[in-house]
Amino acid sequence: MIEVRDLHMHFGGFRAVDGASLTIREGSITGLIGPNGAGKTSLFNCIAGVLTPTSGHVLFGGEDITGLKPHELFHKGILRTFQIAHEFSTMTVRENLMMVPANQTGETLWNAWFKRKTIAAEEAALRQKADEVLEFLTISHIADEKAGNISGGQKKLLELGRTMMVDAKIVFLDEVGAGVNRTLLYTIADAIKRLNVERGYTFCMIEHDMEFIKMLCDPVIVMAEGKVMATGSAEGIMQNEQVIEAYLGTGIKNKEATEGLTKDAIPAPAKKTAKKKPPPKSRR
Ligand SMILES: Nc1ncnc2c1ncn2[C@@H]1O[C@H](COP(=O)(O)OP(=O)(O)OP(=O)(O)O)[C@@H](O)[C@H]1O
Ligand SMILES: [Mg+2]
Repeated sequence: MIEVRDLHMHFGGFRAVDGASLTIREGSITGLIGPNGAGKTSLFNCIAGVLTPTSGHVLFGGEDITGLKPHELFHKGILRTFQIAHEFSTMTVRENLMMVPANQTGETLWNAWFKRKTIAAEEAALRQKADEVLEFLTISHIADEKAGNISGGQKKLLELGRTMMVDAKIVFLDEVGAGVNRTLLYTIADAIKRLNVERGYTFCMIEHDMEFIKMLCDPVIVMAEGKVMATGSAEGIMQNEQVIEAYLGTGIKNKEATEGLTKDAIPAPAKKTAKKKPPPKSRR
């Protein structure tokens, strides 16, 4: 469904994405993992039209979509959520959802005066759709809350809900599970699975939580230093020596490192600059 060919995103002399190539199969929930600063969000931003790549191509069903703007991609059914949730904080949760669909009649002064009935009917339909989405996500009880007052996890669900207000084909999720409590994480995971199975959504999701990845993703793509370094099943990836090295800066012989991985957690380096540091001596 998506093919990324030799993509580069350079910021000045810095190569955030440095020749990444990957494919996302239609109907899959593809995971994208990698240490902090690996270039995952930059890659998403290039695919989703937020950034224009320095070079390389993005294809959608064989069509070259490189450099198209987010609204153009939106109309093709390519949507993304943000690492930091983007809600309209003074509007209610329901109103936030009702903001999403494009091509509403009510936007010009002319329509506001002369097509009141059409507008009222559209608004009623939108409201119903928003309520269905809230029910699907099991958050109907917060429909009338101001979006600024809901929890971080509920904001993530709202982000997911926005993608359901239109007929998305592929949704890019940037750390939708980050900072979310366990119960809400399962609700999010369940919603993603159901959208995938029942509505045919394809997903590509950036995530650091390996348990979450294992629950949902096949395949998993690993990025490090702007490149794709491995692709495979979650289990396979977690046994991959190169992958462990990229995360921990140590070899697989390091007992502590491999034990850490079997506990479902690939620890992300604490600092953005970690990838440039030599491996800590204490781990050897
Ligand atoms: N607009 C920008 N200008 C300059 N450098 C940038 C810009 N955006 C990202 N970078 C740098 O590019 C590198 C990759 O960043 P990116 O956000 O894509 O990483 P990431 O894999 O999403 O990391 P994380 O897991 O921490 O979210 C980082 O070193 C970052 O500081
Ligand atoms: Mg990121």
